[in-house]
Amino acid sequence: MFRFAQHDSAVYAMSTDEMIIRDAVETDLPAIIDIYNATVPTRLVTAELEPTTIEARLPWFREHSPHDYPFWVAESDGRVIGWLDFKKFLPRCAYRGTAEISVYVDEKFRRSGVGQRLLQQAIARAPSLGITALVGLIFGHNEPSLKLFQRFGFERWGFFPAVAQLDGVKRDLVVMGRHCPPRCSHGPVGRPQTAITTPYPDAPQARGYNECLNLMYTLMHYRQEPIHSALLKMRDKYSMLHVDVLLLIYHFAKSCSGSILEIGAFVGGATIAAAFGVRDSGRQKKLIAIEPGGSVKHKRLGTRNILRDLERNLDRQRVSKMVTLIKGRSFAPETISAVHHALGSDEIGVLILDADAGKRRDIECYRDKLTEGCWMIIDDYAGADSNVKSAPSRADVDALVDAGALEPLGFYGWSTWVGRWRGRAARNH
Ligand SMILES: C[S@@+](CC[C@H](N)C(=O)[O-])C[C@H]1O[C@@H](n2cnc3c(N)ncnc32)[C@H](O)[C@@H]1O
Repeated sequence: MFRFAQHDSAVYAMSTDEMIIRDAVETDLPAIIDIYNATVPTRLVTAELEPTTIEARLPWFREHSPHDYPFWVAESDGRVIGWLDFKKFLPRCAYRGTAEISVYVDEKFRRSGVGQRLLQQAIARAPSLGITALVGLIFGHNEPSLKLFQRFGFERWGFFPAVAQLDGVKRDLVVMGRHCPPRCSHGPVGRPQTAITTPYPDAPQARGYNECLNLMYTLMHYRQEPIHSALLKMRDKYSMLHVDVLLLIYHFAKSCSGSILEIGAFVGGATIAAAFGVRDSGRQKKLIAIEPGGSVKHKRLGTRNILRDLERNLDRQRVSKMVTLIKGRSFAPETISAVHHALGSDEIGVLILDADAGKRRDIECYRDKLTEGCWMIIDDYAGADSNVKSAPSRADVDALVDAGALEPLGFYGWSTWVGRWRGRAARNH
């Protein structure tokens, strides 16, 4: 289906400041369908040859979800004047990060910036939806849409000559695509190149620069989403980590390919954040948590029995079935073999290290299962010099960064290091 509309024939004077973009609800469907049907006779936008109905489109509408493949409407003065939807580009898992978007604007509001605003928001929000590439399928003769997409960094990624027949005329199809954020080795488009001072002067900064900004950007967006308040509440009860770190764990678990391994689950804060991410990914992913148990004195989170409270909390948050809990120490041979057994042929796409000071030891135990580019969340990187955990943790992380096995992408919360595993490309460590 080629659903692209943003023609030129327009009329209405409206400032886009008056416009809001929100998630569509079913009562918006009549307006959505009206806008869509108005494009059918133009033969410029959609490959649909006859007008459609609300009933026919209801299942399609319900396939969307605000957290995965959203459907947004642009509203002005209480009236729906345009819409944009995301859908799977192709059904196979490997294409999960690529989404197709369609934009339609009410003919009375064309040339008012409605399509632009929708498109800008799609590009900005893509990373927080786990989307790394956007494509639009546009007829080759739909010049206004092609120009609009070009203006927002889309390039011609594909061309299918004469594949559509509209009233006896053969029409071409163009696939316009862009990465989000753009794949550029010199930093984000339009931003000045400034020298970054990090603790790692030799780190491959150019590659990481975009990704660092992307992570910050992703967090900024999650802070306005319902998941932020859900994780804030959950953190108060179950976690020692900062809510930003929990949001990143949620995001990585949602968008990663591969399984998730957590070392040092305590009473479940990070485990639950990861489980929510898996749940919202709509995909089957293994989430394995290692915890030996014991008791902890803590003003907010003290417990006499870590494992009992961990199991109870996973249950309360309805995620126990998603978590394989391995009771033991990360480095014990029986724990390592239980993790390998649980993983089977899967690899680890997210590793959360929040146990003791043996960060390098834990990485060594599971490095044969880490995917290249595996997200790494390592707590206790910073702290007072007297802190028995942070000094050796930091030394371990810095040594691996130095060897090129870890790529640093930021520091979050109070003391959490975030980055990626680059072990295969590493020099010698
Ligand atoms: C700081 S807590 C983890 C906090 C948790 N991530 C959260 O969200 O609040 C550290 C946990 O690691 C566990 N732990 C310590 N050494 C471990 C090891 N070698 N393997 C697995 N877990 C370990 C401790 O029992 C403790 O529950």
